[in-house]
Amino acid sequence: MISEKMEQAFNEQINAEFYSEYLYLSMQSYFESLNLKGFVNWMTVQVQEEHAHAMGMFNYVHERGGKVELQAIDKPETKWNSPLEVFEHVLRHEELVTSKINALMDVAEEQKDRAALSFLDWYLKEQVEEEASVGGVLATLKLIGDDKKALLMLDKDLAARTFVAPVIG
Ligand code: FEO
Repeated sequence: MISEKMEQAFNEQINAEFYSEYLYLSMQSYFESLNLKGFVNWMTVQVQEEHAHAMGMFNYVHERGGKVELQAIDKPETKWNSPLEVFEHVLRHEELVTSKINALMDVAEEQKDRAALSFLDWYLKEQVEEEASVGGVLATLKLIGDDKKALLMLDKDLAARTFVAPVIG
């Protein structure tokens, strides 16, 4: 059985993961408005990943005999000035999520909940991968600068990203 404090902390993180899904969906819409279909695809995959992250915790709380209480999802930003600005935002957001996962692990440690700690290990590794992949796109966007041709080449690369349902935990 999961402790009340642990359950509350998981509920907050489930909300943060759904917010991430919402934020990336908003970014997907921004890229639709620019007709950059590769970036749209990258965000579509990102949205699916965030949904999987939220559902992984949703299922885990139930598995441990806890209760999920869904909270309101904040309105995400809707306006950016460039793809570079979007990816700076994505990296900032993923760093924030990493700090939230760390804080969740602190609660698990404090509650001596080793099962939760072991479950959250997957999320920690996932954050390392997420920050690295976002950082890669961001570095390319910085190199590209105002070169429209190079931006279209990156768009073509991002069109190749596919969603693979993660095995969480
Ligand atoms: Fe669910 Fe992008 O962290």
